[in-house]
Amino acid sequence: MVQAKKWILVKHFDGFPKDSDFELKTEELPEPKDGEVLLEAVFLSADPYMRPFSKFRMNEGDVMIGTQVAKVIQSNNPAFPVGSHVISRGGWSTHTLSDGTDLTPVMADWPQDVPLSLALGTVGMPGLTALYGIEEVLGLQKGETLLVNAAAGAVGSVVGQIAKKMGCKVVGSAGSDAKVAFLKELGFDEAFNYKTIGSLEEALKKASPEGYDCFFENVGGPFSTVALQQMKDFGRIAVCGSISLYNDTAPQTGPYSHLTMIIKQLKMEGFMQSRWEHKHAESLKRLMAWVKEGKLHSREHITRGFENMPAAFMGLLQGDNIGKAIITV
Ligand SMILES: NC(=O)c1ccc[n+]([C@@H]2O[C@H](COP(=O)([O-])OP(=O)(O)OC[C@H]3O[C@@H](n4cnc5c(N)ncnc54)[C@H](OP(=O)(O)O)[C@@H]3O)[C@@H](O)[C@H]2O)c1
Repeated sequence: MVQAKKWILVKHFDGFPKDSDFELKTEELPEPKDGEVLLEAVFLSADPYMRPFSKFRMNEGDVMIGTQVAKVIQSNNPAFPVGSHVISRGGWSTHTLSDGTDLTPVMADWPQDVPLSLALGTVGMPGLTALYGIEEVLGLQKGETLLVNAAAGAVGSVVGQIAKKMGCKVVGSAGSDAKVAFLKELGFDEAFNYKTIGSLEEALKKASPEGYDCFFENVGGPFSTVALQQMKDFGRIAVCGSISLYNDTAPQTGPYSHLTMIIKQLKMEGFMQSRWEHKHAESLKRLMAWVKEGKLHSREHITRGFENMPAAFMGLLQGDNIGKAIITV
């Protein structure tokens, strides 16, 4: 018998999440049945999508949604031998039972010198998001200028590095001087702290006086309105996220950017990385190859202790993390 600890959403978030919205519960798990495996979480992920998805994918009383790198500790399913590692959608739980249908084995030849936690970051969902946003949505071309916001985060930091690798000029916006220093380390051409610049319009103009061909949008809200005005004619915008809106209790209203979009003839497309699920295996190999070649660097913001998961999640929503937010059990 295994005692599983689970974080439950006891109350739907109203505005910014609070400690009292979560409750830690312990549950005794039965032995795995035929075809089932028992998993132990090794690394858990805190991601912005958990905030909006909690609203339409969860009921009060559910285990918080999320992915984790887990180790198979008992197996009645030959596809997942004991000791192997999987990506599980088991949510915020230390232990879970699974029939295997929601599991993806971690890449077969995962190199020993690459931390397994990267399977939740650069060589996982956020890395795939960066890659698809650049290749499938923006169609970024060598020599173009790209703007990315939340640039020092899990997705943004990969976006900037892939764009640099492709021979583009990259401008990044982030919320602290330490994040800006990190972006410079990664090779971003220009980076600024949007919280201290005064005028976003001036900062964007200074970073790229000729404007932007592509904008990888992670933030939304007023940033977006200002950035759209700095696009070149026929600019492309990949709407990946809108984290500045996730905790709003009432929908934001205008200003509306239609006239800017018409006059500049812009193209804006929202996307979810899952659209290209059929490419994931191949794409993960490409991301791993870049990591091994030293072309893709990763930083992780590690919170130790399963009991600190709500704090890690709330920290992510207020910008505590540089790089990928990871929780170790
Ligand atoms: N479409 C998809 O398939 C997909 C997949 C993954 C992620 N996403 C989206 O991509 C974005 C980045 O995700 P991530 O996992 O890489 O997260 P992340 O960037 O590692 O962490 C979130 C960051 O957002 C910034 N932020 C938080 N509140 C903000 C606000 N009010 N205004 C501006 N910035 C704010 C903070 O950085 P600063 O200190 O710089 O403010 C924070 O560190 C999110 O919007 C997420 O929802 C979309």
